[in-house]
Amino acid sequence: MEPKILATIKEKLSLIPSPEDIIKSSENWGFGEKSKKFIREALEVESLGAMPFSMYDSPPIIESAGEGALVYDIDGKAYIDMMAGFSVNNLGYGRNDILDAIIRQYKKIAQYSEMLTVDRVLLGKKLSEITPGSFPKKVFYEVTGSGANEVAIKLARLYTGKQYIITQYGDYHGRTIGTSAFTHSFSTWAQHYPIPPHDTCVIRIPFPYCYRCPFGKSSHEECGEECFHLVEFMLSSSYYGVCDKSRRTCNIAAFLIEPFQSAAGYIIPPDNWIPKLHKIAKENDILFIVDEIQTGCGRTGKLWAVEHYPNVEPDIILVGKAIAGGLPFSVIVGRREIMDSWGPGAHSTTFAGYMLGVAAALATIEIFEREKPELESARKGEYFLKGLRSLMDRHPIIGEVQGKGLYIGIEFVRNRHTKEPATTETKWMTMRLLQLGMLVKCSGYYRNRFALSPPFTITYEQMDKAIEIFDTVLEEAEKNFSIPKNQ
Ligand SMILES: Cc1ncc(COP(=O)(O)O)c(C=O)c1O
Repeated sequence: MEPKILATIKEKLSLIPSPEDIIKSSENWGFGEKSKKFIREALEVESLGAMPFSMYDSPPIIESAGEGALVYDIDGKAYIDMMAGFSVNNLGYGRNDILDAIIRQYKKIAQYSEMLTVDRVLLGKKLSEITPGSFPKKVFYEVTGSGANEVAIKLARLYTGKQYIITQYGDYHGRTIGTSAFTHSFSTWAQHYPIPPHDTCVIRIPFPYCYRCPFGKSSHEECGEECFHLVEFMLSSSYYGVCDKSRRTCNIAAFLIEPFQSAAGYIIPPDNWIPKLHKIAKENDILFIVDEIQTGCGRTGKLWAVEHYPNVEPDIILVGKAIAGGLPFSVIVGRREIMDSWGPGAHSTTFAGYMLGVAAALATIEIFEREKPELESARKGEYFLKGLRSLMDRHPIIGEVQGKGLYIGIEFVRNRHTKEPATTETKWMTMRLLQLGMLVKCSGYYRNRFALSPPFTITYEQMDKAIEIFDTVLEEAEKNFSIPKNQ
């Protein structure tokens, strides 16, 4: 018998794609000559652990962007962009106002470690104003979304003197060694788990993914009840081991949650979930931290996703991705007393609050104040959602379409009754869409969802065209994979 250790090594090796397969795939999916040649060079240089090799059997080589939601590869092939670079390019591409702000700052000075600047302080004031919560706030700058999460975790533990953090199964909060314990995607856990010691003091609760209830319920009306019951039970029973109310002891510092699950496939919980979690957090003196790295900046049709729920005021909100018009930048905005609970230099990274990022973020916020692009996201999202939902009548492979603003998730199944995930089909469709000129992100608990997040500049014609292309590809998938039409 093969020793277990060898089997484990083989298991992990099986997660590595073969360069030959990637090259073969680039030949099969309609890439131009330059792309086909370049992929070989890329494979000589880039680690196979890089994200593009997980997103596509063979990734496109992106060169530039154009009107509305168009992106071009090095052969000049146009793609309708359904990703906005993972929700970074919410405001579209090539905005001169953001570019001018960056150039103006670069001409003055690009960066000087983490020193204070007038603009950085101004940005902090603006962010405190535009985030939910009428209490005094302060900011802390970081660079990445993972970095922002790490700061929030450190701060919550320090401020409360408690160590446990509650997060949701299926959440994504980053892939650094610290945040990996809060991220439950396949590639994090399968490749790196266990992640000691960082996943000590992390409590995971189920997320109400209503289409596939973690408790096996099929009624949507009651969605979230079981998940919430577990949280209530955990916090009220001393024997459960987390809190002991009779002795006034609770070791939980914070909830750290994604309001909608993004990396998991754009899954929106039932309306009662976030308000209930917020309420129970308040009742138990637990901080409520929301990670709006992906759902923020207008993506869901409101500036912040938590604004869909009146009276929910997070103690800390994490902002990143689209906040600086495409430059890497993140911010932790929180209650003043929490943000001041540590001493000077308690956390730092060289590029925190860097000057070009500050300039780009200020320009981005000015656009939000002036143009209200989140309303564009809401309007266009409604239109696109309606068009995508209309495809359900013809295509049984669609199990569910969910969306708020231009934040839309589509789940694919082999059978609408059994909900058997259409994993192979979704992978195939991702490549076929690429071939026909559309960039989509395949994700989901079973890698059977598309997470659609086009830039808000997408035109109505481009949305119509996208629906037409989806129609074609769904039809082909149903035929190729023998999905019965009458279900
Ligand atoms: C909700 C959420 N949090 C955190 C992160 C991590 O951000 P970054 O990749 O900038 O570290 C992401 C990235 O996709 C995210 O979607």
